Amino acid sequence: MRIDIVGGGAIGLLFAAKLALAGQEVTVWTRTEEQARQLRDNGITLEAGERRQSAAVRACCLDTADNAAIGRDDGSVVLLTVKQPDINGRLLDKLAVLTQGAGSLVVCMQNGIGHMERLSEKLPHARLLAGVTTDGARRLSPGTVRHTGAGELWIGSAGESAAHPSDGTLAENRQKMFLDKLNSAGFRAALSKDMDNRVFQKLLINAVINPLTAIYDVQNGELPRHPIRLRLMRALCAETSDVLAAAGFKQENGWEKVLGVCEATSANVSSMLSDVRAGRETEIAWINGGVVRLAERHGLRAPLNEAVTGLVLGLAPFSSDERTGL
Ligand code: PAF
Repeated sequence: MRIDIVGGGAIGLLFAAKLALAGQEVTVWTRTEEQARQLRDNGITLEAGERRQSAAVRACCLDTADNAAIGRDDGSVVLLTVKQPDINGRLLDKLAVLTQGAGSLVVCMQNGIGHMERLSEKLPHARLLAGVTTDGARRLSPGTVRHTGAGELWIGSAGESAAHPSDGTLAENRQKMFLDKLNSAGFRAALSKDMDNRVFQKLLINAVINPLTAIYDVQNGELPRHPIRLRLMRALCAETSDVLAAAGFKQENGWEKVLGVCEATSANVSSMLSDVRAGRETEIAWINGGVVRLAERHGLRAPLNEAVTGLVLGLAPFSSDERTGL
């Protein structure tokens, strides 16, 4: 089975390295030629605890690769690990070629919402699945990743993609085989029939922790330690929970879960704060911006989500026409 990992960030490198070490044929599709060359020459170094292992992978730059070299008739399993702002027209065109074969699967690992709809429009041949992982990973260099915490991976149909027509049998077989391969590679992966709830659960956590850590420039664990920040967290959590409930999200103890993630990831710099610090475009338009759009769809308003969206956009060194917002 051909496994294509799209994205050479922390999660992409982690999955590629572990699958390759378990004997799978893995191709990593990177954004830059430079990273692809490094991965081809030196493989991926995976650090976990005291252990360091080197995994040999194929690697290509997706942007510059020839369509004839990307496409295969026998279909593919794609793990899409790029961040939301990178899902642009160029990437979608290349993904369409990568998934032109019958029974192709695309597992989408992004934070936030809105991308599955865009992907399903552009990838008519592929079955789209959402993936939610609690594995922690940090990219130490373009070819080195540290597995910072073992977690779980849930995969399944979500949102409109649940109704996406595709070659059921082939895609379903591939899905099962892929889960087996992930588990053999040491991941705790399972199929979920409750992906919408899992995606919304993650959205709630990201909608509170990500913008506020970025705005206050603090690590996750520091966020609730200040009374004003704590009040704002609670208010943003309540507003987001109301919107998600209107959209059909069944949840219990949302606030406790948000606090639990802050505690469990206390030393983490959130992905949004990392993006802001590095001057990269953030996922705010798909996290809190996604909540605002969901609220509008259900006749509600989400002023706090709107406010943090504006503030985080204001932190980025982009002009508005450079943004990829939806
Ligand atoms: O985006 C992130 O940084 C992570 O999803 C989370 C859970 C907020 C931990 O840092």
